[in-house]
Amino acid sequence: MTDIDGAVVLVTGANGGLGQEFVRQLRERGAARVYAAARSPRTWDDGGVVPTRLDVTDAASVRDAAAGADDVTVVINNAGVLRSGSLVDGDLDDVRAQMETNFFGPLQVTRAFAPALRRSHGAVVNVASALSWFAIGNGYSASKAALWSATDSLRLELAADGVQVLGAYLAFTDTPMTAGDMPKNDPADVVAAVLDGLEAGAHEVLADELTRAARAGLSAPVHERYDALQEAHRR
Ligand SMILES: NC(=O)c1ccc[n+]([C@@H]2O[C@H](COP(=O)([O-])OP(=O)(O)OC[C@H]3O[C@@H](n4cnc5c(N)ncnc54)[C@H](OP(=O)(O)O)[C@@H]3O)[C@@H](O)[C@H]2O)c1
Repeated sequence: MTDIDGAVVLVTGANGGLGQEFVRQLRERGAARVYAAARSPRTWDDGGVVPTRLDVTDAASVRDAAAGADDVTVVINNAGVLRSGSLVDGDLDDVRAQMETNFFGPLQVTRAFAPALRRSHGAVVNVASALSWFAIGNGYSASKAALWSATDSLRLELAADGVQVLGAYLAFTDTPMTAGDMPKNDPADVVAAVLDGLEAGAHEVLADELTRAARAGLSAPVHERYDALQEAHRR
């Protein structure tokens, strides 16, 4: 269980749709200070929010942020990118960029803040995706699957130090990342569910029905999980 009241929290990707909501709700729940980390920090109309420069793919930038915020008790690895190219025919640089941001980014940030988190018996939240559990043929789902596995390993490694590691999983959510007219979660609801889970000591938060279905579907044979494979299987 992690108290948000009085916590000092670093949020990566703080200028994004979910990031801004994390910052707002953390302060509402009593976080003493929130480091709003972004590649281009913006100003915030709240003295408890500290704009912080941080590119999660840049080791020096991560090191500098950790040195300047050694009072952090909770890290929210929220920054992420989505590119559309396929794994087979798409640009390999896009695949690498998604691995750098969505997998190595949270890993690098967690490693840099580990001393502070261990000292405070704090928490890490990794914002993954329903696509951690459902492949869509691109580098994004591969990167989020890798983040799922890393989240489970980090939880095991940090448990002995009393650090909570929470994986947050969500499907379509109404932020600049997700265009299109499909039904989407309200970012405020997703963030509220994640912060409720953090305070309750949860290992995972599954924010919506699509995500719960993706998780539950993991035990089915792979050809039953994907329409394209069902057709091929019948032939
Ligand atoms: N929206 C959805 O449907 C959905 C579904 C499942 C999971 N997610 C996950 O939720 C998280 C938040 O995404 P969002 O929906 O809020 O999208 P968003 O509005 O596009 O926000 C993503 C943020 O990540 C930041 N970012 C990207 N690369 C970065 C880097 N190298 N270093 C630091 N910050 C970086 C972006 O910063 P800039 O402003 O500098 O570009 C942006 O502010 C992501 O991890 C995403 O994968 C979203």
